[in-house]
Amino acid sequence: MSEEETINQDEPKGKSRMRRRADAIKAFRCRHLVAVIEAPSDPVNIAAIIRNVNALGVEKVYIVDPGRHIPDDWEEFRARRSMNKLSVSASKWSYVKRFDSTDECFDHLESRGYASIVTSPHVKGKKSIFLHEGDYTTASKLAVWFGNESRGISDRAVERSGMCVAIPMFGMIESMNLGTSSGIILYEVARQRREYQSRFRKRGGRGERAEPLPTTMAVVQN
Ligand SMILES: C[S@@+](CC[C@H](N)C(=O)[O-])C[C@H]1O[C@@H](n2cnc3c(N)ncnc32)[C@H](O)[C@@H]1O
Repeated sequence: MSEEETINQDEPKGKSRMRRRADAIKAFRCRHLVAVIEAPSDPVNIAAIIRNVNALGVEKVYIVDPGRHIPDDWEEFRARRSMNKLSVSASKWSYVKRFDSTDECFDHLESRGYASIVTSPHVKGKKSIFLHEGDYTTASKLAVWFGNESRGISDRAVERSGMCVAIPMFGMIESMNLGTSSGIILYEVARQRREYQSRFRKRGGRGERAEPLPTTMAVVQN
């Protein structure tokens, strides 16, 4: 990272600084990229994913919540001190929507033209790949599904999605933690899509820009 890529931020904290930051990150957000958490049981993981989603410029979080752990009113949930604290206030800045079932969420996504991929440490469904083998820019709208902490992704989600993505595992344990795996997978998916957006205005390699847009932001120096 070069000197020019850092900003010395001796600015007052407050609304205007937040506003400027919100304006600056807009161009880096991955349009039409949704992270879906299927039946999570631990609020710590929900908060971790929301934090990753916010940090990586993913557009939205959908939560399939058959157990009705999350209130319909997201405003109420995100205002909870515990959620705010766990996500270091990322929940304040993120769009989150809940669904009663996996099918309801797929119906919603498909009616809006989204393709889905699921994630699992195991080989699942019609097509299974390792994370580094994938091209995540081919669908104009993409949803990336993460499974429950103990059961993993459901058979129904596998059935309704195009492929399954795995982070290669080299240890004695079977899987990674849900929050951690979301960070690794969304980083790669968002990185590829941001790069694509920087080069092309449209899908299918159409509308190439004369100069690619930047894909990284200046780092704030504390
Ligand atoms: C703790 S894991 C679930 C483990 C569960 N026993 C299973 O069979 O999948 C929770 C979720 O994190 C994600 N995950 C964990 N490790 C992963 C890996 N190596 N590759 C891809 N996704 C992973 C998947 O979305 C998974 O459903």
